[in-house]
Amino acid sequence: MAESFETRLTSELNISREKNLFRRTRLHEGVWLNLSGNDYFNLRNNHEVLAQANETANMHGTGSGASPLLSGYLPCHEELIEKLVSWKKKKYGMLFNTGFMANQAVIKHLPAENDLILADKFIHHSMAQALNRRSTKFKRYNHLDLDQLEELLAYNINRFDTVFVATESVFSMDGDYPDLKKLVKLKKKYPFILILDEAHGTGILGNTGAGLSEQADVQNDVDVIVGTFGKALAGMGAYVLTNLSPVIQYLTNKAGEYIYSTFLSPYQAGVALASIDMVIKADKKREMLKNISQWLRNQLTDFIQVETKYTTPIIPLLVGTPKNALKVQELCLNNGILVGAVRPPTVSADGSRIRISLNSDLSKEDLMPFITLLQKWAEK
Ligand SMILES: Cc1ncc(COP(=O)(O)O)c(C=O)c1O
Repeated sequence: MAESFETRLTSELNISREKNLFRRTRLHEGVWLNLSGNDYFNLRNNHEVLAQANETANMHGTGSGASPLLSGYLPCHEELIEKLVSWKKKKYGMLFNTGFMANQAVIKHLPAENDLILADKFIHHSMAQALNRRSTKFKRYNHLDLDQLEELLAYNINRFDTVFVATESVFSMDGDYPDLKKLVKLKKKYPFILILDEAHGTGILGNTGAGLSEQADVQNDVDVIVGTFGKALAGMGAYVLTNLSPVIQYLTNKAGEYIYSTFLSPYQAGVALASIDMVIKADKKREMLKNISQWLRNQLTDFIQVETKYTTPIIPLLVGTPKNALKVQELCLNNGILVGAVRPPTVSADGSRIRISLNSDLSKEDLMPFITLLQKWAEK
């Protein structure tokens, strides 16, 4: 006889618990050091950002009141798109309520039946989930392995109408990024459509914080940029930018993620309008963030496996098993330090990790207690 609904859920959850993979949402009390957020410049409580958000809400209302094709599209949204296209050097743009929805829309709706998507093995779940549909043809290449990508391109480029390559700029769980110049060079040999998720590159890379494409000086060569306001831009919401006007028109006509959802709130549009201005001018803070990341990586590398080649604020510390990840997280929490414990299926079976993410206000003194704690744990 089939298990009852509740029994099935409970027994699946019990299996997760036994494997140390159970997840729960919780409040963290007594935290004095948060190494688990993505607000890289601490703008969430910035008074200028709050003031502009309040002003925009006062002008246009608490919510947008409707989906964008009805009456939800407001002057603050238009102003925000204009700011984004000018910052990220693209001609056309549209907004989404979340980066998750934007990635789903791009990956689900742009490829047709005789198209192929080549995607980095570690791309974010918001893209990966959209790949896993019966109608989508895709192949994954090893993380950052552009030689393998070239092999796949050489084999597939004439077998499909359009080939897409999808990658993150700064990878959310690894803090590394592809050689975008090299990737763009491949486009000359194998003309593909490049989709770049700049969720974590935005704010921290490039002279004005426009992301990895600015840092690598290839802004013109990226066909579709996806980004979110939920990380360095201190709010929520997202955007798709491109030089190909049919992309925006197509998503506007086909993407349910856009058409059938109450549009981004004026408050959130106000947050992004203010935070973009601040991030563009934050070159000193960008530098501080790189320096503190480099310093911390160098400190940790003496006793734990850590990548010192990158200076992004996301630092993965591989601790082996899910149980270890939970243990270290709990140890940190007991000392008032919040870190992420990332376990499968977010990462591979042997990839459980503590995910550190830094912000530009952190000093070496702030981080010393964390380093000492981790060193003690590693030497046990
Ligand atoms: C690389 C990447 N893309 C997309 C998203 C989704 O963005 P949002 O939080 O706006 O839904 C995230 C957030 O976790 C992310 O890390």
